[in-house]
Amino acid sequence: MDWRKQFSKPEGPLGWFVGHIMAMKNQERSEFVFSVLDLQPHERVLEIGFGPGTDIARASRTAAFIAGVDHSDVMVKQASRRNTEAIREGRVKIDLGSANKLPYPDQEFDKVFSINSAQFWKDSVGTLKEVSRVMKPGAQIALAIQPRQKGATEDHAYQAGRGLADAMKKAGFSDIHSEARPMKPVSTVCVLGRRM
Ligand SMILES: C[S@@+](CC[C@H](N)C(=O)[O-])C[C@H]1O[C@@H](n2cnc3c(N)ncnc32)[C@H](O)[C@@H]1O
Repeated sequence: MDWRKQFSKPEGPLGWFVGHIMAMKNQERSEFVFSVLDLQPHERVLEIGFGPGTDIARASRTAAFIAGVDHSDVMVKQASRRNTEAIREGRVKIDLGSANKLPYPDQEFDKVFSINSAQFWKDSVGTLKEVSRVMKPGAQIALAIQPRQKGATEDHAYQAGRGLADAMKKAGFSDIHSEARPMKPVSTVCVLGRRM
């Protein structure tokens, strides 16, 4: 059984189960990313690769509006169930789609975040240019990685962070810097940048 595939694109009953595991395990990592992102009540926010939708729910407690995009229809169903009321109230919108072709107009969002998803993007630089398209000038992006593969080390976490920072630079972002939080099994590294 290829578990990695289920984390990169959850599918079928196993994908549904994997979604519930992610929802149970990811709280500490998400709280770190949210502390760095510092969402504000007037902001329009995008999450890419929301998985079970727990972070959409978290963000919707603060931000004015949060949109989420994920290429797994199983995760779209799970996240929609988890956010039914906010969707009905128009505070949350959940879309099936891919990070490299976002279903949003230009300059739509004040903040964008993605947690443990960017490592699966095939063309990080091209995808980040597409993400930049939907961000307002000066808008902030946060990409967080906590390697979870068997045998993952601190080196893997910091290497992944350097890779993301490099891709952001090539995609034209400014003010790029990283923050890390030690946690088990390895640290989470969050790379931040701004759309020029
Ligand atoms: C490991 S899960 C992480 C889910 C959630 N962010 C969390 O931290 O619990 C990765 C998610 O990113 C989504 N994903 C991966 N590549 C994607 C892409 N290119 N476009 C949209 N979603 C993507 C997957 O479908 C999956 O739901």
